Amino acid sequence: MIIDKLRIQKNISDEDFDAIYPFEIRELSERHWTSVFVSKTASEFLCSERPVKVLDIGSGAGKFCFVSAALHPTSEFHGIDIRENFIHISNQLKEQYLIPNVSFFQQDVLQMDLSGYDGIYFFNSFQEKIDPTSSIDHTSQVSVEQYIEYTKHIFNELNKVPRGTKLVTYFSEGFCVPNSFRLLATHFDGELKFYLKDLEPHEYNLLLNEQDIADHIDKHTFLS
Ligand SMILES: C[S@@+](CC[C@H](N)C(=O)[O-])C[C@H]1O[C@@H](n2cnc3c(N)ncnc32)[C@H](O)[C@@H]1O
Repeated sequence: MIIDKLRIQKNISDEDFDAIYPFEIRELSERHWTSVFVSKTASEFLCSERPVKVLDIGSGAGKFCFVSAALHPTSEFHGIDIRENFIHISNQLKEQYLIPNVSFFQQDVLQMDLSGYDGIYFFNSFQEKIDPTSSIDHTSQVSVEQYIEYTKHIFNELNKVPRGTKLVTYFSEGFCVPNSFRLLATHFDGELKFYLKDLEPHEYNLLLNEQDIADHIDKHTFLS
């Protein structure tokens, strides 16, 4: 059993792990799901001190949550995703592989407040809105307005979470993260970033840098 193997060996290949998925989900893995090794590195930071509750914003087919939950059985991992089919398959696999410490919910992150978690994981969930090469399925649609709306929501919600909340971003632009979070470490050529929320509200700037977003969008529109 793949999940048991991961629990015991603490690392397995992505090819081995992805065998739990049907072909059409496996096909998306290399580009859209966090690898086993990156999930292990991220979850070691998120779960380093005590049992914690972690949210994966845009959990896809649940790969980050499953790997992290197998490696950290006393912590809890919640995944939310806008796509019903991804939540359906994640819940099926949770039952099939008997992984009690994961939960998945279909939700648009715009409807969520992010408080109530000790740790948050964010792997660039909105790239499909500005980059046609990041398309996930036939529902992917480019919309710069929505990209800005989603990014502002994440930024504002992160500003509200309590001090002590940990955040890991992967392939995500720094402008999503308010400067109430301190960057503690980076891995994988700077693409995986570990942050800790540690400033009081009067110590930081609450405003998102709109010019940085505009520059980022221009870069992608130009490249695609
Ligand atoms: C790059 S994948 C990451 C998957 C997963 N976190 C992992 O690392 O294995 C981004 C996911 O975000 C989801 N997503 C996009 N927009 C969303 C939204 N507004 N609310 C919730 N999920 C969203 C997509 O459906 C996709 O599954």
